[in-house]
Amino acid sequence: MISRNDPCYCGSGKKWKKCHYPTVPSPEISSDAEYYLSKYEVILKTPEQIEKIRTACLLSRDICNELVKASKVGATTNELNDLSDKLHKDAGAIPAALHYGQPPFPKGICTSLNEVICHGIPNDKPLKEGDIMNIDVASILDGYYGDTSQMVVIGKTSVPRQKVVDVAYESLMRSISILRPGLPICEIGRTIEEYASKEGCSVVYQFVGHGVGLHFHEAPQVCHHMNNDPMPLAAGMTFTIEPMINAGKREAVIDQKNKWEARTIDGQPSAQWEHTVLITETGHEILTL
Ligand code: MF3
Ligand code: CO
Ligand code: CO
Repeated sequence: MISRNDPCYCGSGKKWKKCHYPTVPSPEISSDAEYYLSKYEVILKTPEQIEKIRTACLLSRDICNELVKASKVGATTNELNDLSDKLHKDAGAIPAALHYGQPPFPKGICTSLNEVICHGIPNDKPLKEGDIMNIDVASILDGYYGDTSQMVVIGKTSVPRQKVVDVAYESLMRSISILRPGLPICEIGRTIEEYASKEGCSVVYQFVGHGVGLHFHEAPQVCHHMNNDPMPLAAGMTFTIEPMINAGKREAVIDQKNKWEARTIDGQPSAQWEHTVLITETGHEILTL
C-alpha cells in the first residue's frame, strides 16, 4: 500500500500527499509490473527471473575477478580477452559485448586504459607499470545478463590516476547505499556528482547506466550526473550503476576510426566501476558483489 509520504505513483516526483492523494493507482495499473512497463518500459523481474539474473551476475563477477588477477606488467588486453572467452565457454556462457551494437563490438570485454573512458577494445599492447585500466565484463548465461566492471592499477601509479580510481569507486558505492523502493532515480546522479565534484573531479554524462537482466541494455537509463528524472525505484528493478569519473573535463570524444573507444577530451585520466543491483522490498542488493 502506498503511504502519504511516498513518491506519487504518477511519476511526478512529488509526494503522494501533495499530488494525486487520496486517489490510488487505477485497477488497470494496479500491478506495479504493468505500470512500470507501460509508463517507463521498465521490466520488473519475477523471483524466477531474479534467480537467473543473479547467477549470470555472479559469473560476470567471478570472471572479472580472474581478469583482474591476470592483469600484470607485460600482459596484453588481448590475453585478458582470451581468458574471458575461455572462462565464459567453460561456464556455458557468452560474453555479451562480442558483436554487440553497430559497428559490432569486436571483442568480448572492454579494457579502457588511462584516458580511455569506456569501450576500450582489447589489443596487443603490453600493460605498463602505472597504467590504470577498467575491465568490463558482461555475460549471457541461460539467456540472462550480468554486467560489472572494476579498475586495476598496474603496480604503482601517479597521484592523479589513483585519485580518479578512488573517487569513481566511492561514487559508485555511495550511490548504491541510498537505493530503496520509492527513491527518485535522479538521486543516484545527485549523489555521484555532489561527491565527485567536491573531490575536484567531473562526471561523464554521455554514457549512462542501464536496466539489465532480460536484455543487455534495457530501460531505465541511469544518469550519473545531476538530473531531474523523478521515476521512483521499485522492487524487482535490476540495473547497473557505472559512473565514469574524469580528473579533468567531463567531455568524452569517440574514436573516429573504430567508433567505440571514448577518450577524455583533454587526455586526463578517467576511471569507472560498475555493479548490477536489484531493488528489493526493503532496500537493495548488489548482484555482482
Ligand atoms: N559493458 C558495457 C556496459 O557497462 C557495455 C559495453 S558495450 C560493448 O554497459 F559493445 F562495448 F561491449
Ligand atoms: Co553496463
Ligand atoms: Co559493463
